[in-house]
Amino acid sequence: MASIEFVKVTKEFEKNVIIKDLDLTIEDGKFTVLVGPSGCGKTTLLRMIAGIGPQTSGKVLINGKDVSNIAPGKRGVAMVFQNYAIYPTMSVRENIEFGLKNNKVGKEERTQLVESISATVGLSPYLDRMPSTLSGGQRQRVALARAMVKKPSVFLMDEPLSNLDAKLRAQMRIELIELHKKLGTTFVYVTHDQVEAMSMADTIVLMNNGLIQQEAPPEVMYREPSNMFAAQFIGVPPMNIARLESANIHFGFRPESVELKDGKGEAPFSVKGTISTREMLGSETLYQIKYKDAAFMIKSLDDHFSVDEEVFMEVPASKMYFFDANGDRIAKDDASYQDYIEALRGY
Ligand SMILES: Nc1ncnc2c1ncn2[C@@H]1O[C@H](COP(=O)(O)OP(=O)(O)OP(=O)(O)O)[C@@H](O)[C@H]1O
Ligand SMILES: [Mg+2]
Repeated sequence: MASIEFVKVTKEFEKNVIIKDLDLTIEDGKFTVLVGPSGCGKTTLLRMIAGIGPQTSGKVLINGKDVSNIAPGKRGVAMVFQNYAIYPTMSVRENIEFGLKNNKVGKEERTQLVESISATVGLSPYLDRMPSTLSGGQRQRVALARAMVKKPSVFLMDEPLSNLDAKLRAQMRIELIELHKKLGTTFVYVTHDQVEAMSMADTIVLMNNGLIQQEAPPEVMYREPSNMFAAQFIGVPPMNIARLESANIHFGFRPESVELKDGKGEAPFSVKGTISTREMLGSETLYQIKYKDAAFMIKSLDDHFSVDEEVFMEVPASKMYFFDANGDRIAKDDASYQDYIEALRGY
């Protein structure tokens, strides 16, 4: 088990600053998910923990100890990559055993370890198979098992599920949550997929352009996004955000916070728009509704509205968010909060 700490870490590639003065503490034993758009620096961060792409300045601590001069193999971390490198000419057993042989672990202990770990990840029936005869999900498990036999105190995973189809990805998400529970090891998981982040994380670290936007458990990230970026990155469809000219701010609401009605409602935000698209998804229906020059996405349990129909959208004041000129969320106890709510009537 191990905690990880970044202290004022900067990473440059040929004078390009990718990560600047980053401070971050990853708690011992937690499932932490680093999420953010492509190119924001997630892999770069993981590689600094693993020691395969050292920081330009600042410190990385594992269990309180500066690891700058500690070789990757001595850090107690194991990394599973997006394009899991398993050896095609070795059986599943040989693949899992490989690192142990290199580390001169005795035969008996090797066999015992390989067998218990294979059982943990559900590979026992496949130990003598060749990788080419396995499904994508099974190969992914081989990559996991290979990392696990090293008994790392930190597990680093870089988009390990991105090569799998949607159904298998959903299944592997659950398996990883269970695996984390079973092992109790620190997991640091990188993805650009907010669904993976929301479903697996104890703590989400949301990054953009090498800067941490917010660090919070999934439900806090969803209910109390710190800024417009967080509000629109987490959630499908993302939060609707529009400009409120009269107050010189932006307001926002989640797609599921809207009530669709035939007549105008009491709430400050109740406007008549026109349905422009309808997607019936089974348990819920997504509508795009146009009002003036804005388009809002609405998630509704009601599927009886049709395209081109006019309908009132009403959002209770308690479900509204406001963002200042910098894009930061305005707190509910802000002195002008009630004024912003009232200003919605003029939207
Ligand atoms: N070896 C390198 N040399 C120069 N620039 C690099 C190098 N590695 C990464 N970068 C740059 O650093 C930035 C962050 O890259 P990184 O791989 O960490 O992004 P990421 O968040 O993992 O993105 P993705 O989701 O696409 O994997 C990118 O702009 C990338 O072009
Ligand atoms: Mg990456």
